[in-house]
Amino acid sequence: MARKPLMAGNWKMNNTYAEAVVLAQTISNNFDKHWTDSVDVLVCPPSIDLKPVNTVFEFDHQPIQIGAQNVYWEPKGAFTGEVSVPMLKDVHCTCSIVGHSERRGYFGETNEDVNRKVRALLDGGLYAVACVGESLSVRDEGGAEEFVCAQVRAAFAGLEPEEAGKCVVAEDKIRKMIIAYEPIWAIGTGRTATPEQAQDMCAAIRTTLADMFGAETADEMRILYGGSMNVGNVEQLLAQPDIDGGLVGGASLKADQFVQLVKACL
Ligand code: 13P
Repeated sequence: MARKPLMAGNWKMNNTYAEAVVLAQTISNNFDKHWTDSVDVLVCPPSIDLKPVNTVFEFDHQPIQIGAQNVYWEPKGAFTGEVSVPMLKDVHCTCSIVGHSERRGYFGETNEDVNRKVRALLDGGLYAVACVGESLSVRDEGGAEEFVCAQVRAAFAGLEPEEAGKCVVAEDKIRKMIIAYEPIWAIGTGRTATPEQAQDMCAAIRTTLADMFGAETADEMRILYGGSMNVGNVEQLLAQPDIDGGLVGGASLKADQFVQLVKACL
């Protein structure tokens, strides 16, 4: 089946409030809302900027989704420094990234944590962009596929096929859980996975999803590639049959580049 591509920008810990508003406004000024007939577009600013960025897009009637970079699984309470699913819903997020390798690496996020976050998002009616990816040493040892597919199984453990495949976000929209394959060695390094390496892993991920949820659901779920995606390599990556879009860091911080990446999906 033809899956609708998704182009997502992960701003990471970049931009002050004013810079975030300017970046969102510049994206909006150069964005044609009809593009979203054929590509979903998502921006993930720091939590503190979710509300102002969404205000820019909503004011301009731009159908650009916003998502968080992280979320905690409890709905509220004494969890200093955390942000919950109801809070994200309240500022009109459709999703959250979970399990990014930077969170796993710097903040000790485990597969079990990722799974709890996926469940909390699902129960709250949001979808997860669940990140998976191997380090260079795991790849060099030949264990990349096994490692990444185990992360996929762990992230979506306990989900029913209809939960993975149909997460109701709004009355008129049904969105599905997403996997983002981001090889750690390609993040922020300028060293992109080759289209073949990325395709091979995304195909293995889809096979894993088929084993978990059935071929039909796996066929409908989107798998993104992330890791030094840019205007120079996006076309080749998107041409791969199992790559359904991108999760972009550095290049999403420049409005013109992000807009070009979106246009590459049209
Ligand atoms: P870069 O595009 O900067 O390599 O970052 C990728 C990433 O980690 C997106 O989540």
